[in-house]
Amino acid sequence: MTTYRIAPSILSADFARLGEEVRNVVAAGADFIHFDVMDNHYVPNLTIGPLVCEAIRPHVQVPIDVHLMVKPVDRIIPDFAKAGANIITFHPEASDHIDRSLQLIRDHGCKAGLVFNPGTPLHYLDHVMDKLDIVLIMSVNPGFGGQSFIPGALQKIAAVRQRIEASGREILLEVDGGIKVENIAEAAAAGADTFVAGSAIFGKPDYKAVIDAMRRSLAAV
Ligand code: DX5
Ligand code: ZN
Repeated sequence: MTTYRIAPSILSADFARLGEEVRNVVAAGADFIHFDVMDNHYVPNLTIGPLVCEAIRPHVQVPIDVHLMVKPVDRIIPDFAKAGANIITFHPEASDHIDRSLQLIRDHGCKAGLVFNPGTPLHYLDHVMDKLDIVLIMSVNPGFGGQSFIPGALQKIAAVRQRIEASGREILLEVDGGIKVENIAEAAAAGADTFVAGSAIFGKPDYKAVIDAMRRSLAAV
């Protein structure tokens, strides 16, 4: 049986009350905290860095899943590892040396992963499966919360699932962007096991009600 994980994205949280927000979402059943790092260069938005990761670290017992939307990548990896990140993913287009960046993440004691935008080909996976703990498929173009799920992501999830099975390795398959109670089962059926959701959770008054409803949808897959 597949273990499904729900990773609320704090991009849609109330940043004026971030400690309380992350405590509440973990109490509501979050498996990971998804932490979106944007640099106003690789993506057209600017968010949060290692300082904020360090600030929330004592408030949550679950892994912090840092999604780097920054270019360059390598310089900031040690800072996030020191700030308490458990998982660090980056976009292959943003690194000149993908293998080195993946190794750098592992050398700092974190799980490593690659992120694929809707238009990014999967061939970046060809020679690095042994260096991956997670693959993240974007179902929106990165930069903003609250966008609609791009259906083409389903095919891509299925293709990555095949590659993971063929590799025989334990690699998580995460999907990010426009995930809601209504479409989470479709993403799971395509092969995803880890689900980022920002506006679907933090946009609602009762986080537990949403996460429970997501788990009910997943149980029916
Ligand atoms: C988009 C971010 C996502 C975003 C998801 O660039 O990587 O993690 O917060 O937000 P929703 O779930 O609202 O699409
Ligand atoms: Zn993200």
